[in-house]
Amino acid sequence: MLMKILQMESSRRHERNPMSEILIPAELITRLRAARRIAVLTGAGISAESGVPTFREAQTGLWARYNPEELATPEAFRRNPRLVWEWYAWRQTRVRQAEPNPGHLALVDMEHRIAEFTLITQNVDGLHRRAGSHQVLELHGNLFRAKCLDEDRPVENWPDSEEIPPRCPRCGALLRPDVVWFGETLPASVLRAAEQAAAHADAFFSIGTSALVYPAADLPFTALGTGATVVEINPQPTPLSPHVTFSLNGPAGVILPELVARVWG
Ligand code: OAD
Repeated sequence: MLMKILQMESSRRHERNPMSEILIPAELITRLRAARRIAVLTGAGISAESGVPTFREAQTGLWARYNPEELATPEAFRRNPRLVWEWYAWRQTRVRQAEPNPGHLALVDMEHRIAEFTLITQNVDGLHRRAGSHQVLELHGNLFRAKCLDEDRPVENWPDSEEIPPRCPRCGALLRPDVVWFGETLPASVLRAAEQAAAHADAFFSIGTSALVYPAADLPFTALGTGATVVEINPQPTPLSPHVTFSLNGPAGVILPELVARVWG
């Protein structure tokens, strides 16, 4: 059934903006204008144009010989807490130097125009909030927060010390980044809120994510299952691509501003 809809969509007329080469299907514009509830899932690709490397890109320089997936695990931290802490410190430095890009800003604009808007991100870089988005669910935590390894509680301040990683001022256990690592469960209330937003959305966007990591990768399917229009924005095909209602192939920082201007401008 869905495949039939897809074939129908792809044969529909595309509106061409004389100012650009971006093709935005007329039917998508109509559906988005009618949408009251929108949920958006973002991944590392939305921050790529801010200069933050995507997760599966090779790391450069110092970190070139490490596979990020081998550093983002509880086992890696147990094996070498200093290495993992320093990798996150390096990522913090990269992100501090970065600025939100037109893709982030277009999502701020979208939030202002939609009655019920939820931005679900797998990114830990905090760039959506820095851009000005308010309804943000951070599924995988945030690079700039730390928590106690033993008590699993957020820790905001700790005394200066030479030790890396620093220690929890309450119990003396090691501090760790407050991010979700492979093999760990996502914060339950955040995941529940994301699932509800996906289930109730009239339109759902999957932007800049390889759609490989679960449970985030399930969210577009939840939205499809309840009849939402699902739109993917990505320069590359992903395992989600054959299932979506509309695929917009290209960089989010170019497509999103154009889409927002065409639909709500
Ligand atoms: P990935 O690095 O797996 O995928 C990034 C996606 O962004 C790819 O599909 C690219 O084609 C796409 N992309 C690149 N540049 C883009 C651009 N300018 N505009 C739009 N898309 C672009 O990153 P994620 O899918 O976010 O999890 O990875 C998901 C999770 O896997 C991460 O949150 C992390 C990782 O392992 C944890 O750390 C738990």
